[in-house]
Amino acid sequence: MQKKRVFLTRTLHEFALKELRKKYQIEIHSGKIPIPKNILKNKIKTIDGLICFPYDKIDKKMMDLAANLKVISTYSVGFDHIDISHAIKKKIRVGYTPEVLTDATANLAFTLILDVMRRVSEGDKIIRSGKWRQIYGAYDYVGIDLQGKTLGILGLGRIGSTLAKRVKAFDMKIIYHNRKRVSKSKEKALGIKYVSQEKLFTQSDIISIHVPHTEQTDALFDSKVFKKMKKSAFLINTARGKIIKEKDLVSALKKKTIAGAGLDVFESEPIGKNHPLIKISNVVLAPHIGSSTKETREQMARITVKNLNLGLSGKKPIYSVGY
Ligand code: DGY
Repeated sequence: MQKKRVFLTRTLHEFALKELRKKYQIEIHSGKIPIPKNILKNKIKTIDGLICFPYDKIDKKMMDLAANLKVISTYSVGFDHIDISHAIKKKIRVGYTPEVLTDATANLAFTLILDVMRRVSEGDKIIRSGKWRQIYGAYDYVGIDLQGKTLGILGLGRIGSTLAKRVKAFDMKIIYHNRKRVSKSKEKALGIKYVSQEKLFTQSDIISIHVPHTEQTDALFDSKVFKKMKKSAFLINTARGKIIKEKDLVSALKKKTIAGAGLDVFESEPIGKNHPLIKISNVVLAPHIGSSTKETREQMARITVKNLNLGLSGKKPIYSVGY
């Protein structure tokens, strides 16, 4: 019997490829990343399964070219790059990788909070550029304490909740906003207080974003919101870049409308050396590494393969969106 055809828009761990090769006829894109649209358009016509990444846009037009496609398995928790309602219409299963990356991403959010507030990366750059000339002055490289400050968590899903657990040990006040208020017992266990989105903007000393990128959250953080935030506030984003209007953030950081930011995601990735954020010192930049630990990335690969296997045998992936 002819093996099913699986296409990967980028390579995965060797153990995952080994498993895929046993079962399927696989092809891996090895050229430019993200895969150019015309190459994917051509490949998608004949394949049964697709393994993709969060920057591969799988929209209606792309899916309509697919004659046999049964499953799209994305190596990410985010699925805003896939037109889910169209996949449902076409009865294409969509698998994704939540849960396994919760700890890694929450830990990175917390790392960015500490880094930007204690100016670690900024200091590192100063030392490396040979500009550390005097030691231990009263006003040198002073950061901000965490204890007593208010952390505002926007989106209390898995990652937002885990961040709350981490922060509890730092004697901070935690407020949150979520589409749906969580149970009183969960609020008590995490030591968190529900507030309106507006209050979260105005009362937080640090805002950490943990909502998906949707029509409602697109460019949610713009100049109007920055003006509502405390001048001393920090903004942390490990969710999706497009939730922040980057142009407005650059201007808010330059004008000190807010105190600083820690960013793992950007409107368009990767950002180059001429990006306006590069020249700003009160921002810590990470190259989209929320889930990037050895253990987490391996788990993600395992789930991506499992989701694909299930979809190709006509079953629902273990982590499935829509159909
Ligand atoms: C995801 O899985 O969507 C993350 O952005 C990857 O770090």
